[in-house]
Amino acid sequence: MTDKQETKNNQFDFGMIGLGVMGSNLLLNMADHGFKVIGFDKNPEKTKLLESSAKEGASVSGVNTLAEMISALLPPRKLMMLVPAGKPVDDVINDLIPLMQHGDIIIDGGNSHYTDTLRRINFLKEKELHFMGIGISGGEQGARLGPSIMPGGDVEAYNTVAPLLQSVAAKVDGKPCVAYLGKDAAGHYVKMVHNGIEYAIMQLISECYDLLHYGLGMNNEELHAIFDEWNKGEMRSFLIEITADVFTRKDDKTGNYLVDMILDKAGAKGTGKWTSQEGLDLPMPVPSIDMAVMMRTLSSLRAERIKAHNLYGSVTNKIEMDKETFVMELHDALYLATIISYAQGLAMLSQASKEMEMEIPINEVVNVWKGGCIIRSELLPIFSAAYSKNPALENLLLDSEVASIVKQKILSLQHIVMNAASSNYPLAGMMASLNYLNAYCRNSLPTNLIQAQRDYFGAHTYQRVDGEGSFHTEW
Ligand code: 6PG
Repeated sequence: MTDKQETKNNQFDFGMIGLGVMGSNLLLNMADHGFKVIGFDKNPEKTKLLESSAKEGASVSGVNTLAEMISALLPPRKLMMLVPAGKPVDDVINDLIPLMQHGDIIIDGGNSHYTDTLRRINFLKEKELHFMGIGISGGEQGARLGPSIMPGGDVEAYNTVAPLLQSVAAKVDGKPCVAYLGKDAAGHYVKMVHNGIEYAIMQLISECYDLLHYGLGMNNEELHAIFDEWNKGEMRSFLIEITADVFTRKDDKTGNYLVDMILDKAGAKGTGKWTSQEGLDLPMPVPSIDMAVMMRTLSSLRAERIKAHNLYGSVTNKIEMDKETFVMELHDALYLATIISYAQGLAMLSQASKEMEMEIPINEVVNVWKGGCIIRSELLPIFSAAYSKNPALENLLLDSEVASIVKQKILSLQHIVMNAASSNYPLAGMMASLNYLNAYCRNSLPTNLIQAQRDYFGAHTYQRVDGEGSFHTEW
C-alpha cells in the first residue's frame, strides 16, 4: 500500500466508478454539498480532470484502481457506477465483489434494463451486498446542478443513501426530486418509462417543426420565437426551452444555422424501444411512444427515403391556412398530444407495478419528474393533483381536471392532424395520440368483428354482451 493510499483510507463518503460526463458531474455536485467523494476511472486524464474541476475546499479525489477507491471509502461503503449499460455493469460488479464487505452498497445509476437489474439484485443478495438500480435524468447540467433521481429496490440501502441523494437532487418548491419509487428494479423501470415519454414528446415537437418549417415556410428566427413564446405559457418545459435555443445556434464551420447542417437520421440507445417492448409484453398500449421509436428507425433509412422521394416526387404541400390560427392550433395540439403521451407512460407504469408487485407510488414518480429531468414540465403539477386525489387512478385521462383540458384542446388536435394528412405530412406521434384518445374514450369498438373472425377460422371463442362465459359458433 502506498503512502497516498494509506492517507486516503476510510475517509470518503461516496465513490463513483466511471468518470464520464455524468459520473464526474454528479460527484462534483456531491462535493458541493459537503460530501467527501472519490472517483475511479482507468483513464488518468479523467481522474486528473475530476480533481482539477473541484471547487476550492471541496474534498474530491481521483484514483485509477478500484482497490484504492474501495479502501478509501467509509464503511458501509457506498458507491455508484455510471458506465454503459450491459456487460460493462457486470464486469464492474465482478471486479468489485472480492473487494467489498457485507452490507456495502453498490448502485447502478446508468440506463440498465430492469431485468438485468433484477438479476443483479438477486446475485448480490447471495453475497450479502446491497444492490440498487437508480434512474438519473437531466444530462450533464442536471448531474452537476441537480438531477431527478429515481431509486428503487433495497429499502435499507435507500435509507442509507437518501440524505446524500436528497441533497444533490434538483429541488422544486424546496422539495428534492428524489423518492423511494418501489421494490426490486422499480428505479430502472421508472427511468425506462421516463425515457419512453421523452421519445414521444421529442417526436411530437419534431412534428411541429415539420409543419411550421416545411408546411408554413418559417425560418429559424421565427421558429425560435414560437417555441420561446410557447415556453412562457402552459407548455413551459425543458424540451420546449431547449428547442427554442436550438434554433438560435450557428454552425462554427459554415456560419449557417446548425440545425440545418444536421443530418435527419435520429439515433437511439434503446430505452425507448425497451418501453415499447415492455408495453407489448404487459400488455399496455403506448402507441405515442411506439410511433416515436419507429419514426427514429424510419428516419435512419435515409438512402431508401431518398429513392422513394425520387420515385414518388415531392409529396408535401404548403399548408394554406392563416399562420396565426395555425400556430395557435398547433400549440394546443402539441399540448394535448403531450398529455396523452404522459398518460400512456404513467398507465403503463401503474399496470407494470401491479403485475410485477413493484408498489410504485405513481404520485411520487410525478413529483420526482417535476424538476431536473428531461421531461420536466408545467404539466406535472396537474398530474400530481390528479394522482393525489386518486392514487389508484388507472389513467390520467380518467381524471376530471385532465378531461376538461382534453375537451378544450381536442378540436385543435383534430384540425392539425387533418391538415397534415391532407398535405402529406407524416404526423405519426400526433395521429397515434389522437387515435389512442379516440379509442380509449369509446364505449364500443369494432373489435366484436375481430372476435367473430377469430372464432370463424380458429374456434378461438368469444364472450357475449348478454352474459358470462365463452362461446363458439359453427360458422
Ligand atoms: C436523461 C436522458 C438520458 C439520455 C438518453 C438518450 O434522462 O437524462 O434520457 O438518459 O440522454 O438515454 O437516449 P437516446 O440516445 O436513446 O435518445
